[in-house]
Amino acid sequence: MKADLLIKNCAEIHTLKGPRRARRGDEMKETGKVEKGAVAVKDDKITAVGPTEEVEKNYEAQEMIDASGKTVIPGFVDPHTHLIYSGSREDELEMKIKGKTYMEILEEGGGILSTVRSTRKSSKQRLIEQASKRLDTMLRHGTTTAEAKSGYGLDKDNEIKCLEVIEELNKSHPVDLIPTYLGAHSLPPEFDQTGDYIDFCIDEVIPEIAEKGLAEYCDVFCEKGVFDADESRRLLQKAKAVGLKIRVHADEIENIGCSRMAAELGAISGEHLVKTGEEEIRMMAESGTIGILLPGTPFMLMEEEYAPARKMIENDMAVALATDLNPNCWTESMQMIITLACLQMKMTPSEALTAATFNAARAVDRDDIGSLEEGKKADFLVLDVPNHRHIPYRFAVNLVEQVYKEGKRVV
Ligand code: NIG
Ligand code: FE
Repeated sequence: MKADLLIKNCAEIHTLKGPRRARRGDEMKETGKVEKGAVAVKDDKITAVGPTEEVEKNYEAQEMIDASGKTVIPGFVDPHTHLIYSGSREDELEMKIKGKTYMEILEEGGGILSTVRSTRKSSKQRLIEQASKRLDTMLRHGTTTAEAKSGYGLDKDNEIKCLEVIEELNKSHPVDLIPTYLGAHSLPPEFDQTGDYIDFCIDEVIPEIAEKGLAEYCDVFCEKGVFDADESRRLLQKAKAVGLKIRVHADEIENIGCSRMAAELGAISGEHLVKTGEEEIRMMAESGTIGILLPGTPFMLMEEEYAPARKMIENDMAVALATDLNPNCWTESMQMIITLACLQMKMTPSEALTAATFNAARAVDRDDIGSLEEGKKADFLVLDVPNHRHIPYRFAVNLVEQVYKEGKRVV
């Protein structure tokens, strides 16, 4: 049979082949490893994966690449990013070093609100340029699909502007984007009461976004001092009623019942989950809500506490990993996140790989990516390392040598 491309003699291929639903518990260790493997690609899809001898017997390819000593994995899926923003907040890093907390900075009008001011002032074109540069970096570091949130516009026109930027980038950039409306990210300066702002999002913004087809998900920063669980529930119920799927920033700084609410509403994911307790873990395991863990955030906040990943895995909850890319936690690298997941949350390299590929794809409701199987999109990476355990081990450098997106080499 004919193929366009055959990558052969790979030291390891991690196919992540397995059940279609997100992996939980012990399943998270199963990465579908093939030694001395080959991948064959036809058009934009994987047509065969297996031992090199077998694949070579069955396929004649136009282009052959020898990947001896290298490791092939699915492209990373980054299921939680605040991709669209203008400006930067390196000044706040110094405040944090001197002991200010994230919430203190926000209460003084910095943090999210400072990024809102610069994002509101930015033209669409300028936002596209800035986000596009970040997407280039993400792609070079192996991310082939990412969720992207609005949330630095807050008012209707600026939120729509940011979602339109995501729409444009999705057409022009090789990284596939999944758009999320996060209007309820902070109380905008033109409102005094959180309840009134939630009413405004419900009555004025969500219907228009849904009608224009600008978002697939609705998210909310459910947190003490931001939006409480009842306000968040009201917003998410409206989002569901107009056909949006829902995801929740929950239990990041305090546990005020947000992950519980996420499980009760059947959200696809609860995200952050640093303060999540055992009861909520059981509820999310039961409802199939995926925990998207963001270890870059406590790292940048210099916190000692990280999400209880081990407890989640032991209690059969599905776990995914993401960067949380935003001006407070500016990294485009899922490799760095894997390092933090292993070192700070004691995930094993295999679990972290599953969480950054297969489970991350499920956390954005995609089943044509995240694994290397016949018929799936040919989104994969060639890493210049002999096995996947090098990913957390050789930290803060880029181990990605080649990136294939829908069968085409893009890096
Ligand atoms: O997920 N916590 C809320 N939102 C973002 C941070 C946004 C910002 O600080 O600009 C997060 O960490
Ligand atoms: Fe976030």
